[in-house]
Amino acid sequence: LNDSTEENELAIPPLLEPVDGSYPITAQQGTTEIFEGIQTDTYGYNGSFLGPVIRIKRGDAVTFKTRNELTEPTTFHWHGLDIPGKGDGGPHQVVEPGETKDVKFTVNQEASTLWFHPHQKGITAEQVYKGLAGLIYVEDENSQKLGLPDNYGVNDFPLVFQDRQFDDKNQLNFKAMHNDDGTIGNTLLVNGTLNPKLTVGAEKVRLRLLNGSNARNYTFKLNTGDSFQQIATDGGFLNEPLEMSEITLTPGERAEIIVDFSKQNSNSDIALVNEEDTILLPFKVRDEQTNSAELPESLNDYKVTDEERSLPVAKRLELFGMGMHVTINGKQFDMNRIDFTQKQGETEIWEVYNKPDPMGGMVHPFHIHGTQFKIVTIDGEDPPEILQGWKDTVAIEPGQTVKLAVKFNNKGTYMYHCHLLEHEDNGMMGQVEVN
Ligand code: C2O
Ligand code: CU
Repeated sequence: LNDSTEENELAIPPLLEPVDGSYPITAQQGTTEIFEGIQTDTYGYNGSFLGPVIRIKRGDAVTFKTRNELTEPTTFHWHGLDIPGKGDGGPHQVVEPGETKDVKFTVNQEASTLWFHPHQKGITAEQVYKGLAGLIYVEDENSQKLGLPDNYGVNDFPLVFQDRQFDDKNQLNFKAMHNDDGTIGNTLLVNGTLNPKLTVGAEKVRLRLLNGSNARNYTFKLNTGDSFQQIATDGGFLNEPLEMSEITLTPGERAEIIVDFSKQNSNSDIALVNEEDTILLPFKVRDEQTNSAELPESLNDYKVTDEERSLPVAKRLELFGMGMHVTINGKQFDMNRIDFTQKQGETEIWEVYNKPDPMGGMVHPFHIHGTQFKIVTIDGEDPPEILQGWKDTVAIEPGQTVKLAVKFNNKGTYMYHCHLLEHEDNGMMGQVEVN
């Protein structure tokens, strides 16, 4: 791992609030001081590296004013957002250098933590790697009355985890570093910060975790062995806080957790760590005790209905392969081919199977655009409690079959794909047309 060990206070992205319902979002390039005294070439939204947190509220009419100031085409994709296909920002909605495009929609989904990133055909992985990624907070009446920690940057923190590898000039040399199953870096950045530490109060703190890596999985736990409460999945709150000792996220997945620091003080040595106890994010706890209310017992009323359980399988998808040879139903992505159609507002069961290969195969995080789905079963069984909530990305193990209840509220053409970004770029993607 990278040998510089000086701790840096975690960068908190600026919060992007609307002006008359409109949010300017510009993709740009620049340089960023990731290593002290050294400039690294990077991409970012409304800045040189990564993006702001866009806060939107259910019921609001919103305009994203997107602008491309890069020297190459890009798209603006809103991962997890329930939005008409023409605004979804998939590979068809290219914004050329110098162009501006307005994306208008009405927010129509539950409070959740979504994210945005480019989806330009064949170069998604590289553009994300260079820094194009940001979070979207959706709020609603429920989230505003639950009394959860929601003071942005004080007790409610966005955390974007990304592994990167720098060349000997401290540049993000994607082409030199990447392999076809995804770029695994040796340097962890959280919100773009190298060797981050986060200062928190001695209170309950909400962490919104995004695995924004191209291909690395993380299993988050506390080095103290303490548990924490998971409160949300990709697309909304769980029905109740779930006590967890660890949580695994594959690329594209999010979770919101509450960590209780009220028993800690400035002498505590507490950190989020990965499986092998490598430190992901150490905390520095302030001494003054802050009031910290109990968590509500009930957060949501998510459920898979009997009707959804009794639906026949409407679509079968088979994920297969590794490296350059990754397919869905034996095919690689073709912009001009619609693979499936579905009626707007109708729930269908998608059965997705990860077919092992002679080497054993690998986990593919399977993502569908423009919707939040329900996991009905995994290998015929009810999913574990942590997957009983709205999802847009599900990790499928080799040999596993998941049944998803999928409904699109809007019309248009949507992608579904593996969220290992290199697999996506290598064609592990298809299109469903909703009409
Ligand atoms: Cu997070 Cu198709 O994308
Ligand atoms: Cu994959």
